[in-house]
Amino acid sequence: MNTQRSATLTVDGKGVDLPIYSGAIGPEVIDIRQLYAKTGMFTFDPGFMSTAACKSSITYIDGDAGVLLYRGYPIEQLAHQCDFLEVAYLILKGELPNPEQKKEFDKIIQSHTMVHEQLTRFYSGFRRDAHPMAVMVGVVGALSAFYHDAMDISDQYHRDISAHRLIAKLPTIVAMAYKYNAGQPFMYPRNDLSYTANFMHMMFGTPCEKYEPNPVLVRALDRILILHADHEQNASTSTVRLAGSSGANPFACISSGIACLWGPAHGGANEACLNMLEEIGDVSRVGEYIKRAKDKNDSFKLMGFGHRVYKNFDPRAKLMRETCHEVLNELGLHDDRLFKLAVALEKIALEDEYFVSKKLYPNVDFYSGIVQRALGIPVKLFTGIFALARTVGWIAQWNEMISDPEQKIGRPRQLFTGAEKREVPPMSKR
Ligand code: CMC
Repeated sequence: MNTQRSATLTVDGKGVDLPIYSGAIGPEVIDIRQLYAKTGMFTFDPGFMSTAACKSSITYIDGDAGVLLYRGYPIEQLAHQCDFLEVAYLILKGELPNPEQKKEFDKIIQSHTMVHEQLTRFYSGFRRDAHPMAVMVGVVGALSAFYHDAMDISDQYHRDISAHRLIAKLPTIVAMAYKYNAGQPFMYPRNDLSYTANFMHMMFGTPCEKYEPNPVLVRALDRILILHADHEQNASTSTVRLAGSSGANPFACISSGIACLWGPAHGGANEACLNMLEEIGDVSRVGEYIKRAKDKNDSFKLMGFGHRVYKNFDPRAKLMRETCHEVLNELGLHDDRLFKLAVALEKIALEDEYFVSKKLYPNVDFYSGIVQRALGIPVKLFTGIFALARTVGWIAQWNEMISDPEQKIGRPRQLFTGAEKREVPPMSKR
């Protein structure tokens, strides 16, 4: 980090110099770690609007330019030229694999795809209609109880094994959540298939019939996974980092990330977006919903619109729109009702002064629900697929944090607005 410059903050007429650091690209940061010691004051930034919480070399976003880079590579090139496991390798290790490394990595992941048979019993503790994310929070957290052999987080080798286990087992766990909901038998993984084809086999295959994954649809789902693999210090990744900063084990940390992702402002938006499209139902009602989204007294928001960082366009949304066309064409669904509705809604919102002035554009989740629905994935599972993909980013970010010699337990402070010290009155005087 370059520390040539400093910023001066004046508090009650007294100047405090704070170092400025430059990263490789992107905004510089002011190091305020000494601020409390020097002034007795904290910074106040709820929602982390202006706070860089860590150093990271994994993912870079330029929200104004609509740029997303994994380890320096543009998302568009990765989505068109790589498969999900290549991207996972890149995110974890920093470089794209050569053919030998790719083969070896695929093999390693394949060798961990099964879950412990005992873990399958956990599912029967859930109601059949349990939300898959509820099941996943529990089951992924429960993995901690199975892998005592590699739980030393200070050992890089142990961290690698945990990363491989998580990446390999998440598709199995998500597919099992679906099968449990559907009342169908769990399907064991097939290691002769690619990562994504195997996931589709575990989702859509049954013991009665051989399932042949359609390569166009496998490619579409693979792209969804690539686009969701990492996204810098978003809410769930920050949750994983914060949980991990206490030394918690990786399975517990990823489970906390899944819990955070579930919210409708984050990963739950794909499910919420599709439900919203269903609710709108017809192009003739778009105006009514746009009006509601603009009404300050109405809590309704256009799901799949807006982003904390992207203020021009979300590059993932463009790719997802393209994938949407490919999938609907392949399945002969060009006249899909919800797709037409989504296109109309997007057009009307993009021309509306409210959305233009607030720089609200469709995000990745606007079209991903339509693609997933066309693939036959039930709406309730959408966020589970997001979690499956984001596990790669979470575990890479967790690993990066643990390896950082400057890493400390995350411990924010507060601006206290409650009662000052007071005495407990006797019961008769309350
Ligand atoms: N519909 C209507 N108005 C909106 C929307 C929306 N989707 N998003 C933001 N606004 C308004 C918001 O009311 C606020 O207005 P004002 O300035 O008058 O108070 C202004 O735009 C700024 O919004 P904000 O909520 O302060 O911005 P934020 O950065 O805190 O929130 C967001 C970002 C993504 C949570 C929000 O845009 C949102 O809730 N969008 C819908 C949910 C969604 O699609 N989430 C998926 C995000 S992408 C996938 C992921 O990374 O998980």
